Amino acid sequence: MLAMTPPMGYNTWNTFGTNISADLIKETADAMVDEGLLDAGYKYLVIDDCWSKRQRDPVTDKIVPDENKFPKGMNDVSDYVHAKGLKFGMYSCAGVRTCADYPGSFDHEFLDAETFAEYGCDFLKYDFCFKPEGIDGPLLYRRMGMALKACGREILFSACNWGSDNVGTWIRAAGAHMYRSTGDIVDNFNSAKDIALSQVQNYCYSAPGCFNDMDMLTVGMYGKGNVGSSGCNDTDYKTQFSLWCLFGSPLMIGCDVRKMTPATKALLTNRDLIALNQDPECRGVINVTTHPWSNDLKVFFRHLSNGEYAIGFFNFSDHDAVVPFYTFNAGLVAGCGRALQLKELFTGEEVGPIKDYYNPTVASHDCKIFRAQVVRV
Ligand code: GLA
Repeated sequence: MLAMTPPMGYNTWNTFGTNISADLIKETADAMVDEGLLDAGYKYLVIDDCWSKRQRDPVTDKIVPDENKFPKGMNDVSDYVHAKGLKFGMYSCAGVRTCADYPGSFDHEFLDAETFAEYGCDFLKYDFCFKPEGIDGPLLYRRMGMALKACGREILFSACNWGSDNVGTWIRAAGAHMYRSTGDIVDNFNSAKDIALSQVQNYCYSAPGCFNDMDMLTVGMYGKGNVGSSGCNDTDYKTQFSLWCLFGSPLMIGCDVRKMTPATKALLTNRDLIALNQDPECRGVINVTTHPWSNDLKVFFRHLSNGEYAIGFFNFSDHDAVVPFYTFNAGLVAGCGRALQLKELFTGEEVGPIKDYYNPTVASHDCKIFRAQVVRV
């Protein structure tokens, strides 16, 4: 079965947009292996929009690769990716054209799913631009869900309708393994923050087999690339990655992995954070925020496997701040003879036992992420 924990990989869109090629994909595959990303769990290498010619083949009606970008065809690339031990991902759209105006799969779902299978594809991102007026959006995801099942190859179905039509409530039933729940991320702190905070309530619709996808990471882009904006600093990226890991979103890298800074590489391969993301129980977070007036100081609590927990303290404000947490809100009963023992995942700092209250100071835009156990006191 696919996607028993949140899928992890890389996608070309955030940094490269239309500037993709066979050479880029091969160099990215090399980097994913050489820089330790595959070892850390990132196994899908996904080509986003702009890989095909502008029109379908007039004889076969198939979508065909742009020979200027992929001169030896798609199998040359997928063979290379597979030989590296990675999985190969591609992109299409539920409408008549993709968002960047290439052929979409509307009314060609079964033909296209077979074409993707011929290309050795293991993952299909399926976008939502240019849907014909009056056609039901959920039906189009059902169609591709069925076409992929019938194509003769196991292909992870990554739906991308940006949260339309209450996507979380029906997309699992349509066969998807992950689904975008928001509009596109841009490379700044508020974009990542707003996306994450908008999804806290929606993680009840995320579980083994089908995960809520908060979009490709901008970690490590520093304002360079295709999704605009001023970029972030390393603290901002630490907080973004921590949110994606704590919440259990798929982790799709969006920076140029051939040129990662040491800080980017260390963050994206942080084993303790990834272990939270990949926790086999895949539970959502509980919002245990209690700050009396600030909307920028948040605490999220999560049940993990093996009787453990995670707690994240986030300071989204522009100044350092105390971020309060009452164990009461996570379920500890006063006088029950238990307390929380915490260990911070970035610093190794041990805190506890905490019976009732803990209020760490968190720097502006920063976070503290703890693994926790309930101990007797
Ligand atoms: C939409 C998607 C993006 C990306 C582009 C490609 O905007 O949400 O993630 O795939 O299309 O054109």
